[in-house]
Amino acid sequence: MMAAYASSASKKRLILGVTGGVAAYKVAELVRLLTQSGVDVQTVMTQAACRFVGPVTFQSLTGNPVYIDLWDANALHNMAHINLSRDADMILTAPASADFIAKLAHGMADDLLTTLCLARDCPLMIAPAMNRQMWENPATQRNLSLLRQDGIKIVGPASGEQACGEIGMGRMLEADELAEAVRMVFQTTPLLQGKKVLLTAGPTFEAIDAVRGISNRSSGKMGYAIAQAAAEAGATVTLISGPVCLAPPAVSKFIAVVGSEDMLRAVQAEIAQADIFISVAAVADYRVAQYSQQKIKKSAGKLLLELVPTVDILETVANMPKPPFCVGFAAETENLEKNAAIKRRKKNVPLVVANLAQDAIGSDQNELILLDDAGKHILSKASKIEQARRLIKHIHLLYNSPNKKE
Ligand code: CTP
Repeated sequence: MMAAYASSASKKRLILGVTGGVAAYKVAELVRLLTQSGVDVQTVMTQAACRFVGPVTFQSLTGNPVYIDLWDANALHNMAHINLSRDADMILTAPASADFIAKLAHGMADDLLTTLCLARDCPLMIAPAMNRQMWENPATQRNLSLLRQDGIKIVGPASGEQACGEIGMGRMLEADELAEAVRMVFQTTPLLQGKKVLLTAGPTFEAIDAVRGISNRSSGKMGYAIAQAAAEAGATVTLISGPVCLAPPAVSKFIAVVGSEDMLRAVQAEIAQADIFISVAAVADYRVAQYSQQKIKKSAGKLLLELVPTVDILETVANMPKPPFCVGFAAETENLEKNAAIKRRKKNVPLVVANLAQDAIGSDQNELILLDDAGKHILSKASKIEQARRLIKHIHLLYNSPNKKE
């Protein structure tokens, strides 16, 4: 049986979304397990779900009214979608039909459940259940991949005999497995709770004159994804970003910079508070010795620029008397592991994240190799947000390791 949650003060509130599918019958048992272990369950059903199980079943099992209609006149201030999700610790939709998944992936909100999901401020988990062919359909798989990118947790489905008589992938997980998945979410203490993470991301732009400059190719996607993953893991995140075309993620502090000198100054101003420094930025290695206030006019001859090295921000931080835990990046075009290992030693950082520049730049997916004292760890190709979450887990492990080196 599932462990009970401590006191009523810490009683967890779950919104249980039920969409149309034969698997809805299993959800009655799930509700029984959840309420037994002290979870307050508030059921929201779609019209289609009501054709499979009656709302009275859930009302009796949860002791709470069941909501179906977006326009329920009894709901407080007639804003059921906001009020219901305001106090929720989590939303679980089980079964989640292919149609519901498609709506969720595209931000549609044409009934109470989809509206609640769109207006939520808590984790969302879904337990898909559908016919094997619907599951395998590229449209469904495309929608699921969008949901993963949005941080929605997908549990199951399992393979087995289906209601339609076919055998294959698409069967909803059993009630006890779903109850366990809910328990895991409720009991997890965020990995970086109470930690302060400072990140640099994006390129820097080193001005040559009033209109021209030198920069590196970097979209900022990886750095922004790591900032988001660190915030999800409970950290207080400060993101220092060079010029990119991305909306800032939800971090505690966002500092926009342009050149490497601005970035260095911003890092120096923030570093004393940081427990962890993640240097994702593609900082330009050179800047012009002489910046020209006026636009340099074109002439027929050569233009010779004298370039001087910029300060290596990561190396500066890693060699402070009491540095935070430092993570560097190595974007290489050849000899990836060898060059990254050299960088790790030279910059004196405990962890270097290596990737092939030609694969990573601007793309939404990449493969990463983590190099630390224990050797190498490959994070096989996945979306940048998935990689970011894996990286945060690895940083958490190293940060808490008894042999931690700063
Ligand atoms: N870095 C930095 N400041 C710089 C240059 C790099 O903080 N002026 C950091 C990057 O954020 C990254 C790591 O150092 O975490 C590696 O950067 P990279 O450009 O791959 O390496 P370099 O040291 O510049 O070496 P090279 O360009 O020769 O590969």
